[in-house]
Amino acid sequence: MSFMDTQKKTQHRESKSLRAVYFSPTGSTRKFVRSLCSGLSPTPPVEHDITLPGNREKPIPAFAEDLLVLGFPVYEERVPEHVLRLLETLKGHNTPAVLAAVYGGVGYGVSLHQAREILEKSGFSVKAATAFVAEHSFATDEVPLEAGRPDKEDLKEAEDFGRAIRSHIVSQAVTTTSLPGHLSLQARVLPPGSPRLFAHPPIVIPSGCSGCNTCTHVCPEGAIDPSSYEANDRACTRCFACVKYCPEKARQKKYKKGLLVKNVLRLHARRRKKAELFLL
Ligand SMILES: Cc1cc2nc3c(=O)[nH]c(=O)nc-3n(C[C@H](O)[C@H](O)[C@H](O)COP(=O)(O)O)c2cc1C
Repeated sequence: MSFMDTQKKTQHRESKSLRAVYFSPTGSTRKFVRSLCSGLSPTPPVEHDITLPGNREKPIPAFAEDLLVLGFPVYEERVPEHVLRLLETLKGHNTPAVLAAVYGGVGYGVSLHQAREILEKSGFSVKAATAFVAEHSFATDEVPLEAGRPDKEDLKEAEDFGRAIRSHIVSQAVTTTSLPGHLSLQARVLPPGSPRLFAHPPIVIPSGCSGCNTCTHVCPEGAIDPSSYEANDRACTRCFACVKYCPEKARQKKYKKGLLVKNVLRLHARRRKKAELFLL
């Protein structure tokens, strides 16, 4: 029985046919995926959270007629490496899929295209794609790009998108909508890993650090030394999960080329970006 047959026939029964796979170092993608899923089905999804290194080693069972919700943050206007690697291992059998790209107000570039193309080559049929806006990893009090997002309004909208997608899939409407998106000049010319050019690994404030080790546990790259709490420059992607989750606020972001970075972020912060929904 397909996901939507299950939804129609067993509204009140336990169903495991909605499956959410996501990567979310600072937690916004996880929030959007959960809200989207609550609009898609009254039954919570089975979650595969691939944020931490240990979780990425666990194999994800094959998909049959489940509905896949794939959530990822946009990195350098593309799909992050860890998600790309996981996508190579996913296999569908004409399995419907919904994409949720979460970006920090600069742009989502070609990420939706990329994810759709890979999934469709592996037996999935992408029925809808969404682009949500969340606080940018580089945001600070001084340059608060999309700070505080997702807020209540964003998550309510994600749930509404979920309901709209569900109706779209149930109606089996045939649409030919293609996905928008292109790489900015900046994303085309900068080398991979370019956020490292614009920020240092997080600065540790020894007087504030209680040695609780939260930073080492939340780092998606396992990049933090458990004795010094310094992050390895090459391994650290600058997601700043350790800054966000440090209970003592003993870690800080520090830009390189500060004036340039602040000006670029301010340029993008001039207007609040809106979420987008594409039914395919
Ligand atoms: C390495 C890196 C690259 C990023 N590239 C972009 C980008 O190209 N466009 C954008 O708008 N936001 C970009 N961001 C911001 C994230 O997409 C945004 O902060 C997102 O909410 C993070 O999701 P999470 O909270 O689930 O980790 C980037 C963040 C990082 C860490």
